[in-house]
Amino acid sequence: AEDAESKRHIFLTGFMGAGKTTVGQALAERLGWEFVDLDRAIEKRVGLSIPEIFAQQGEDIFRHEETRSLQLLDDGPGKVVATGGGIVGREENRRLLSRLGKVVFLDLPWHVLQPRLQAQGGRPLATGAQGWEPVRRLYEMRQPYYRQADLRIECSGLSPWQIVTRIVEML
Ligand code: S3P
Repeated sequence: AEDAESKRHIFLTGFMGAGKTTVGQALAERLGWEFVDLDRAIEKRVGLSIPEIFAQQGEDIFRHEETRSLQLLDDGPGKVVATGGGIVGREENRRLLSRLGKVVFLDLPWHVLQPRLQAQGGRPLATGAQGWEPVRRLYEMRQPYYRQADLRIECSGLSPWQIVTRIVEML
């Protein structure tokens, strides 16, 4: 009973640069659902940008806020939720994700993500300041957790609209 009642959201997961926000907005529009970006929700609550939170308060505080933002979702109608790439790191988060909704993994190979991250900037864990090898290792380490999703979409070569269509077909 708990499942049918509480699994109402759609969570987009995947590494930084996978397009969770872009696809999430488009998916929400297609479904006529509300869209929530967890990183933006955290920035609003804390009153600082993500890079500022990392710099001034540290990653642990950010991860705490991340879990908190999942817990705060636990009522109201179903939403499309774009998560931060590190959400799968904590066991508690993984449990919350699968309890609260359907988890959709936007899967892209590293060789597609890396140039995007380099071009976009603004991510404390993907600055390239230490070179890209540590970031690639983070990508590799997280793959098994992303793969615990209910749905995995291979996004390579697909436009956001095509990805949305694929998700809607598979839901
Ligand atoms: C992070 C990903 C970011 C943001 C924070 C940490 C990560 O979100 O939550 O910088 O650990 O992968 P995006 O995946 O939207 O870039």
